[in-house]
Amino acid sequence: MFEEAQLYSPVTTGDGGEVTVHLHDGHPGAADPGYRRRRNEIAAAALAWRPGQPAPAIDYREDEQGVWRTVCRELRTLHERHAVDEFRAALEQVALPAGGVPGLDDVSERLAPLGGWRYVPAAGLVDLRTFYGALADRTFHSTQYVRHPAMALYTPEPDIVHEVIGHGHLLATPTFGELHRRAGVAARRLAREESLRFLSRVFWFTLEFGVVVEAGALRAYGAGILSSYGELGEFRAMALRPLDLLEMGTAEYDITRYQPVLYRAESVAEIEAVVGGFFDTCTDASIEELCREHAVA
Ligand SMILES: [Fe+2]
Repeated sequence: MFEEAQLYSPVTTGDGGEVTVHLHDGHPGAADPGYRRRRNEIAAAALAWRPGQPAPAIDYREDEQGVWRTVCRELRTLHERHAVDEFRAALEQVALPAGGVPGLDDVSERLAPLGGWRYVPAAGLVDLRTFYGALADRTFHSTQYVRHPAMALYTPEPDIVHEVIGHGHLLATPTFGELHRRAGVAARRLAREESLRFLSRVFWFTLEFGVVVEAGALRAYGAGILSSYGELGEFRAMALRPLDLLEMGTAEYDITRYQPVLYRAESVAEIEAVVGGFFDTCTDASIEELCREHAVA
């Protein structure tokens, strides 16, 4: 059972300009005033950022660096065993520093020769249209905060570990980087909010939580699994279903809870054909039609 969620904490700006990140009561950092201050500070830096400027240079504290080091060390072994081939090749090519959290501009520099992806700062949740649309330009909106140091191997929301270790390596691969971009091109084509939500759910069950049979074994290619110590240890025990666009696109998943079902592709080629094919061809009309056929059936 997956316990790690993917829900961003809301961020607000008060009348006096003060930025507040609202952690829910059960958040590991909720009762830690120092952590809350830190989260507000990092969110404020993202909100103050303007396109064309260097990404905020966060001076990570020793406890934050410690979290990064621990996660890098622990995920390393799990990636060797459970990640798809292209992701493992990207670990070597991107060569993220294991000793401390990289800045977003550093990540962009490392990705430049590997598909040219660029990281820009996000305070928290970015609206669907902006987040997915930017993928068409190989631009990735990323948070910069680190999970609470008391629970280095767990986070209730996507932190820089998820954004950089999960997505960053995928973006550097030929197949999955390109699928991110194709999702972005699709998002730009869709005008209806319902279509965009359908697309985001397909993305969720594939590029965030997808698994695939490779070399006879079940492996993970979703950034949500690949950045999570707990989920990398458990995904093989989950209920698995074959790739099904309609089912994925209309699933009422609850992103604050575990994923009860994962969708399994039989090969990387199947992901490219089914998911990539959907990204390349979907329109408001085709998605509406798909949903209508389902309602009739
Ligand atoms: Fe993600």
